[in-house]
Amino acid sequence: MPAQEENKVVTLTHASGSSVKVSLFGATVISWIAKDEERLFVSQNAILDGSKAIRGGIPLVFPIFGTKSHIALPQHGFARNSYWDYLGVLTDNDEVKVRFGLKDNQLTKEQRQAWSHSFRLTYTVTLTATSLKTFLTVKNEDSDTMEFNTLLHTYFRVKDVAQVSVLGLKSLTFADKVANGETSIESRDAVTVAGEVDRVYQNAPDHLQVNTDNQGHQILIHKEGMKDTVVWNPWIEKAKGMGDFGDEEYHNMICVEVGSVAQWVQLKSGQTWQGGQTLAVV
Ligand code: BG6
Repeated sequence: MPAQEENKVVTLTHASGSSVKVSLFGATVISWIAKDEERLFVSQNAILDGSKAIRGGIPLVFPIFGTKSHIALPQHGFARNSYWDYLGVLTDNDEVKVRFGLKDNQLTKEQRQAWSHSFRLTYTVTLTATSLKTFLTVKNEDSDTMEFNTLLHTYFRVKDVAQVSVLGLKSLTFADKVANGETSIESRDAVTVAGEVDRVYQNAPDHLQVNTDNQGHQILIHKEGMKDTVVWNPWIEKAKGMGDFGDEEYHNMICVEVGSVAQWVQLKSGQTWQGGQTLAVV
């Protein structure tokens, strides 16, 4: 079987040997193996019992990014903290595809009070030999326009973050969350990490490249419908402050997160929004 559910985790396998695991908690992708290597970082201290968002993989941020003073939801919203429905598998040509769903009636009373919209989220995860596509659709089933942010908080696994660079962000305006949200223009062709990084690059191009080491290994990111890109590494002090992240693990990860977060997405009643990413191993 190309997809199997066990203990609230759906595992997809592809004839080539690639595989992906998705936890129904948050519809969080928690493993992606391509060309015999794990490509995603999940902390050794990640909590996997559904009591906290999973520290690693691809948590799905919706309907807020960070916190918002006027919306009483936890940081990054409820999608990564909710159990999603598994909607089944499709195989097509050279790909295996599974879908997950979340509706407003699956939220807690507190969550619905904090964000009182009728909506339907569908998340599709598609695996090929060398790529992983994660794609979200949001249907507004309310009578009014709804506003939301969303982001795919991808944690890439790397051997040494000092060797990593992200290409495609030059000349973009970014809000620097390490400097109280101050905005600047990126001057570098290759964005590297040598300290805490938490930057929201606005209106990023749809093609980005992550050099995962200095030996030519790359993951290409192709985003669709997502406007912005966040680059995050907590570095030494923040790593120590996170209970579900090892003190030294900041060396082994970089988050490059595509999303629409700098501005609200406005979605009219009855309409559907779509966005996502394809990650390809080179
Ligand atoms: C990033 C944010 O997307 O997520 C950071 O830009 C934040 O500010 C990070 O620290 C992790 O968030 P959390 O809620 O998973 O600890």
